[in-house]
Amino acid sequence: MTETLAVPGAAELIRAAASHLVPGITDLHRLLGAGGTEESAEGAEVRLSNGRTLLDFGSYAVTLFGHRPPEVVDAVHRALDTMPTSTRLVANPVTAALASRLAGLVAPERLRRIWLGLTGSDVVEAVLKLSIAATGTTSVLAAQGAFHGKSMGALALTADGERRTPFAGFLGDVRHLPLEPDAVRRAAQERPFAALIVEPVQGEGGGRPLPPALLRQWAEDARRVGAFVIADEIQCGLRRCGPVSVSESVGMDADAVLFGKPLGGGVLPLSAALCSERLYAPLLADPFLHTSTFSGHPASCAAGLAALDLLDAHLDDFARVGRRLAEGVALLAAQHPGVVAEGRTLGLFGALELADRSCSSLALMEAGRRGLLLAPCLSEPTVLRILPPVVVTDEQLDRAMGILDTVLASVARRTAAR
Ligand SMILES: Cc1ncc(COP(=O)(O)O)c(C=O)c1O
Repeated sequence: MTETLAVPGAAELIRAAASHLVPGITDLHRLLGAGGTEESAEGAEVRLSNGRTLLDFGSYAVTLFGHRPPEVVDAVHRALDTMPTSTRLVANPVTAALASRLAGLVAPERLRRIWLGLTGSDVVEAVLKLSIAATGTTSVLAAQGAFHGKSMGALALTADGERRTPFAGFLGDVRHLPLEPDAVRRAAQERPFAALIVEPVQGEGGGRPLPPALLRQWAEDARRVGAFVIADEIQCGLRRCGPVSVSESVGMDADAVLFGKPLGGGVLPLSAALCSERLYAPLLADPFLHTSTFSGHPASCAAGLAALDLLDAHLDDFARVGRRLAEGVALLAAQHPGVVAEGRTLGLFGALELADRSCSSLALMEAGRRGLLLAPCLSEPTVLRILPPVVVTDEQLDRAMGILDTVLASVARRTAAR
């Protein structure tokens, strides 16, 4: 006998989520979805169960190629129809193909060894362990304002005091450097360190590019004492902020470049550390030094191969969207000087720094109510990220800027009335 399962309504699902998931987050979902749940998505738009359509300029920087890019979906379908999961005991052709493709992506003469993960934190943990194993030193340098994830090793590198405090005794020896050119040189005089790990553009830190001269100086000073230089481009890389690799474009000559977020084409989770031979040496000596069950998962790798094709296929769109986003954000900042402290863009990464934390919360909620999803910044709560996908149309981009104009005017009125 077949039983027909009743599909629960949105209200019931939202209640279930609030009971079993994290309430502070499910509350946000309920408010931004206005009682609807996610139903389907395509490109820059998400349709909800309550009939609303939202423009998605958020998704934590994952949907760089939009929702369900057909090329990625097709590649994943092919993987599902053949062999989506690997035995991990016999070579998988899709995993091998992605590794060789990534080995040609950034500094192909140096970064030829690949470690694959699913989340950004996966590859942060991997390079942290490799750096420590290769140097025999457990001290590491990171930057003030850095965000590298929230698993223990990654959290040790993340600068957010509030998130670190409960775990302080468990986190390793990480010094967070002031953004000053001689900071690495001074730190090196105190004690040896295994690696300098840095985001060339701080994403959760508010969309802040670190000065190229500072990045080059830090890298040179780290290399001089035999430490590794790791560029975390999990958020800023893969053309989100212009080049495929920001660290390569500014001449940092990193020993590893990390990618994640959009690497799986916004369809499946995938991350990668592109490493030099010297950094990878501990894995050559002991293949089981660092492993993970789903490392190199074929379905994710199939998505990754298709996503890498899109980097070049959309070159003109990256330029078009970047130009229009820059114009739009500059106009918003000029028109709303009372609430916008600063508007900045880098490629397809827009950031609106608002007057204070309550303005940014209000703007996030108001934008959602009016049909636009933005991303808050995890460690810089006054900043809202505007992260359009490269497939956004001019009409959708104009619509988003129109919504933001109305939202900022409303925030200005409401804060003036306080
Ligand atoms: C620069 C950077 N590194 C690492 C991470 C951690 O990635 P995940 O949340 O996928 O573990 C993030 C996530 O926002 C990030 O922006």
